[in-house]
Amino acid sequence: MPPSPRTPARLVVLVSGSGTNLQALIDASTSPDYGAEVVAVGADRDGTGGVARAERHGIPTFVLPVPDFADRASWDAALAEAVAAYDPDIVVLAGFMKLTGPAFLARFGGRTLNTHPALSPAFPGMHGPRDALAYGVKVTGATLFVVDEGVDTGPIVAQVAVPVLDGDDEAALHERIKSSERAMLVDWVGTLAREDFHLDDRAVRLGGESHDH
Ligand code: GRF
Repeated sequence: MPPSPRTPARLVVLVSGSGTNLQALIDASTSPDYGAEVVAVGADRDGTGGVARAERHGIPTFVLPVPDFADRASWDAALAEAVAAYDPDIVVLAGFMKLTGPAFLARFGGRTLNTHPALSPAFPGMHGPRDALAYGVKVTGATLFVVDEGVDTGPIVAQVAVPVLDGDDEAALHERIKSSERAMLVDWVGTLAREDFHLDDRAVRLGGESHDH
């Protein structure tokens, strides 16, 4: 039998922005039934709302700006080291606006989740809500996925649909998406933490990987 997941599962959350997704995870983890706790928060820039939220909750933080490193590979290796120091079961990219690289994925590939404010495979990249509006879709949403080396291409954990309404601008649409996105993130991170998960090609399956042959 595969070992049971650790309880509560240890989450390291990486942020670049206001951190409302992070806050939703912190709030959920105050319930012992949730099965996961945020043990550290990292950012790629100074002054993020996400790090401020973590500090208010007494959660350890680290900040690793890319320009502080000789090159992208050194930054990626340092990010992997910083995250590894907190021994996470799951890493959550919650509005982290950087691509993790080979060193990071070598350590945390298959255990790193990201949330994207569009319905993949539509509108990958930095401007999901803006691109959905510009295209004129009537339904968009958010996608929770397991990070791979591509841009918002990894195996999908869950998706939620959100309507685009007449008169929406980018901010209004993104806020509507974020409200559903946070609920999906909290729901699924809890499920994955409590039940464990593994990849079967592009399918994300609950339960630990069987080692039976
Ligand atoms: C989310 O919509 C996330 O998907 C996107 O940036 C937003 C982050 O929001 N990449 P917050 O910092 O969690 O409030």
